[in-house]
Order: sequence, then structure tokens, then C-alpha cells
Amino acid sequence: FAFTPESMAEAEKHLAKYPPDRRQSAVLPLLHLAQKQHGGWLPRAALDYVADFLGMPRIRVYEVATFYDMFNTEPTGRIQVRVCTTTPCWLCGSDDIVRACKEVLGIEVGQSTDDGRFFLREFECLGACANAPVLWVDDDFYEDLDYEKTKAILEALKRGERPQPGPQNGRKASMPLGGKT
Ligand code: FES
Repeated sequence: FAFTPESMAEAEKHLAKYPPDRRQSAVLPLLHLAQKQHGGWLPRAALDYVADFLGMPRIRVYEVATFYDMFNTEPTGRIQVRVCTTTPCWLCGSDDIVRACKEVLGIEVGQSTDDGRFFLREFECLGACANAPVLWVDDDFYEDLDYEKTKAILEALKRGERPQPGPQNGRKASMPLGGKT
């Protein structure tokens, strides 16, 4: 495993945010980059590469990758479909969201589709409870969902489209981080 030129350019941008003697601070975004490049999961070679790239002991990188739920150290589908099922989302209908995902993708939670495109899992609170129920697909959040809207999103993804993320009920998206509009 090695970063592609595109990933390397991204990695350099992340490293530029930290002092030169604090390269290890970039371990999370670099693992995320490696996972994205490798189709949704981190093989041992990618973990070793990131460790060596940052000058970190390999065991430290394994610890990070196995601690955080957003990293996969086993093969998965390339498109990560995560449904929040924590209490606020559950009260707002996350069971329906899970059901829609299972029906459209034809898999159970914790499985990947046969073509290796999609991986479905349940997730703990995504920090967007006010907009429950919430679906997280790769880097995009889909909010204010119901059964039909979820089916439409997944069917579009299956066709290779990327539906507009954010609120799905007409509500305007919340103010971006930093408070600037
Ligand atoms: Fe689902 Fe918080 S409970 S985003």
C-alpha cells in the first residue's frame, strides 16, 4: 500500500495544520484517507504505511484504527451505509430506515452486497439528533428521513448517483461550522 498522488496531496494538506514535530497528530485524517483510497477498509499494509509515514510506532496506529468505529480493519463494501439507531433516532423511526436499507440493498446489517459496492451497519449517535433519523453514507449525512425518502436515496446510490445530502424534508441546512453563511 502507498498513497496515490491525490491522497498524498491531501495528506500534505493535513500535515500542514500541525507543527513539523507533531506529525502524529494527523493520524486520524490519514487513516481516513487510506481507508477511502482502499475501498472502505484498512488492510495491515495500509496501517503500517500510515505508521511509517508519520514516524509512529505501528502498534499505536493499530490501537487507533481498532478503537474508532469509523475504521474498518476487515474487508467491506466500498460505500459505507450507516444508520444511527441510538435513542433519539430510534424514537423518530430508525427501524424504518434500517428496513428500507435492507430492502433496497438486499442485505442484513453487518453485511456487504455481493458486488462489493455497499456495506450496511448500525451506528451510535452521529451528533445530529435534532435532525433524526439520520443516515451517514461515506462523507455525507442525510437527515430528517423516513422510509420512502431512504429508499429513494439508496436507489439513487445504486444507480451511481449521489443524492443531495442534508435535510430531506425541505428544512434549510443548518449553518456551517464557523457560523459563516
Ligand atoms: Fe441519531 Fe444522535 S441519536 S444522531
